[in-house]
Amino acid sequence: MDAPAPDRFYVTTPIYYVNGTPHIGHAYTTILADVLTRYHRLFGRQAYFLTGTDEHGLKVQQAAEAACMEPKAYCDSMVGNFKDLWDRLGIRYDRFIRTTDDNHIAYVHEILQRLWDAGEIYSSSYQGWYCIPDERFWTEKDLVDGNCPECGREVIELEEENYFFRMGSYGDWLIEHIEANPDFIFPETRRNEVLGFLRRGLEDLCVSRPKSRLIWGIPLPFDHEYVTYVWFDALLNYVSAVEEISGPNGEDKWWPADLHLIGKDIITTHCVYWPTMLKAAGLELPKRIAAHGWWLVEEEKMSKSRGNVVKPLDLAEQYGVDAFRYFLMREMTVGQDRSFNEVDMVQRYNSELANDLGNALSRVTKMILRYRDGVLGQPADGDEKLEVEMKAIASKAVVNVPAAVEALQINRAVDEVMELVRATNRYLEMREPWQLAKDEQKKSLLDTTLYTAVESLRLAGVLLYPVMPEKTVRLMEQLGFYPDMTGGDYESLTAWGVLEPGSSIPGGESLFPRIELPEDLRD
Ligand code: ME8
Ligand code: MG
Repeated sequence: MDAPAPDRFYVTTPIYYVNGTPHIGHAYTTILADVLTRYHRLFGRQAYFLTGTDEHGLKVQQAAEAACMEPKAYCDSMVGNFKDLWDRLGIRYDRFIRTTDDNHIAYVHEILQRLWDAGEIYSSSYQGWYCIPDERFWTEKDLVDGNCPECGREVIELEEENYFFRMGSYGDWLIEHIEANPDFIFPETRRNEVLGFLRRGLEDLCVSRPKSRLIWGIPLPFDHEYVTYVWFDALLNYVSAVEEISGPNGEDKWWPADLHLIGKDIITTHCVYWPTMLKAAGLELPKRIAAHGWWLVEEEKMSKSRGNVVKPLDLAEQYGVDAFRYFLMREMTVGQDRSFNEVDMVQRYNSELANDLGNALSRVTKMILRYRDGVLGQPADGDEKLEVEMKAIASKAVVNVPAAVEALQINRAVDEVMELVRATNRYLEMREPWQLAKDEQKKSLLDTTLYTAVESLRLAGVLLYPVMPEKTVRLMEQLGFYPDMTGGDYESLTAWGVLEPGSSIPGGESLFPRIELPEDLRD
């Protein structure tokens, strides 16, 4: 049997490089974390959602130099790019961490000192190949065609005295941990890749950079001539962010994280470096690390140099924030790559949001306004076959959505709800309330039909709330339903028959008006 569902959910995104400009890929990970947080709250759990920015390292130092600014002032000037965008995309995190935050720096010092005292860190001379853009050392055997195995770019040879973490001694332990915990790394293909990597043998990890080469970092507490390797600093954010809010007796203890969401670019650091660091420091491991795939543009990776970067804000402004969130969640299977295409986005919007969902809502509310003066009628006592079927489809969605979310199949969760919406439209076609309205004898069946459709759409609103928090609240308002969606009592929100007969149905303007394909996208 499955373990009982934990009552807490702590989710993280990568902390993004502060010098970068957030694009659809960064937006995707962060929206996914937001959607998961809102789902878990809806399911009645307490949730904590952490995001932030990665602010140390050579790339940031160089970007600051190029901007003729002090590194910290440069970071301060950049961090708003992320915060503003997340705000505009309806993302409500609990904490935005910056690796330049004092309490983060103090925590990194504490862990480094602990590892140094325990002999887990030692000093030695080092020769290796260094990838400047990724800020990673590689050994000869890691290189692919003489280039960085992760990004394919050029590496330079370096030799220097440095500090090393005894990562190599944790290889077998980590293999065992991954094998004993099939859910630890998601999806399975990535888990197998990590196991393959570990079986080739794990070496110690260089965790310092001499200040002669890099000034913009956290100084090692035991040698001020060196700063901490940026990944060592960055990964610890996941603990430092929640460490400071946890009380002395374990109150508000969030670590270990339930889920680290990452892209497939940073699997080695998260699935190999991070667990070994935690183990050596005597800390618990995260429950799960999920690596999603790439958003591609015409089958290619997005990059500034290719000039094919998709800007999330442009899309959200043109089509609406919630339509954009819906599309990202609906299209991507977590773990696989997906090509972004604006034409597909418009088509999905028109067929699923405008036609299926928007249409069902406006039909039903208009009929109640026209035939019943905006008052929800009393459904008949005994159900007929069609109503029995509708209720079965609705309760299937209520059960399947949490299961899909738990399995990180957000697209399946969305599809479960859209199935309910389509079923509602089919139901209306069969019952033909516009015909029933013509016959005084059919008054009760008309009320039953409208009530059944209203409840189905109300449920669709509740179940889609995490994906489209703004539009679904308006949808529910149009049905005279005003729940507090910030906490959640899933059972009562999703019970059938929550709306009282006799309550008023205000209706309102069209939630998802059809959109024309922009001129430049037509062929
Ligand atoms: O790696 N499709 O930061 P970063 C989907 N600072 N997701 C994408 C994407 C794409 N095309 N491009 C980027 C770093 N992402 C480090 C992380 S964590 C302790 C330190 C997303 O700014 C995806 O989540 O390069 C990826 O892992 C992340 O942005 C990389 O962001
Ligand atoms: Mg990157």
